[in-house]
Amino acid sequence: MTQTAEFWKESFKEKQTMWGFEPADSAIRAKDLFLREGIKDVLIPGIGYGRNAKIFIESGMRVTGIEISQTAIGLARKNKLDIPVYHGSVTDMPFDNCLYGGIFSATRSSIY
Ligand SMILES: C[S@@+](CC[C@H](N)C(=O)[O-])C[C@H]1O[C@@H](n2cnc3c(N)ncnc32)[C@H](O)[C@@H]1O
Repeated sequence: MTQTAEFWKESFKEKQTMWGFEPADSAIRAKDLFLREGIKDVLIPGIGYGRNAKIFIESGMRVTGIEISQTAIGLARKNKLDIPVYHGSVTDMPFDNCLYGGIFSATRSSIY
């Protein structure tokens, strides 16, 4: 396991749903932009436990995630996030052949 994967595995194990369930302000702004642009398919690299996915889903978009931490994916599933989430690193993209209209990623420079 890489250092990044190890770091996030331990962070989610220890701190669980550490940012709560409200979407980031940037997710709200991106949702408005994607709606204006008529975007239907959204990719969220580093989706975590999915706090930013709901706002896009509720706006009628199909959302797919990529997440390096299986613990975070487990938290997402526990919180009823029922969308495709690829377990792996963004550095190993692509995981499918979908052409996403929008890509949203809220990080704190934590994706390598
Ligand atoms: C700062 S957290 C943000 C999580 C989520 N976007 C949010 O705002 O709630 C960064 C996320 O990116 C994931 N991550 C970090 N490096 C990654 C990589 N190389 N590939 C996929 N996911 C990664 C972490 O496990 C973590 O869930």
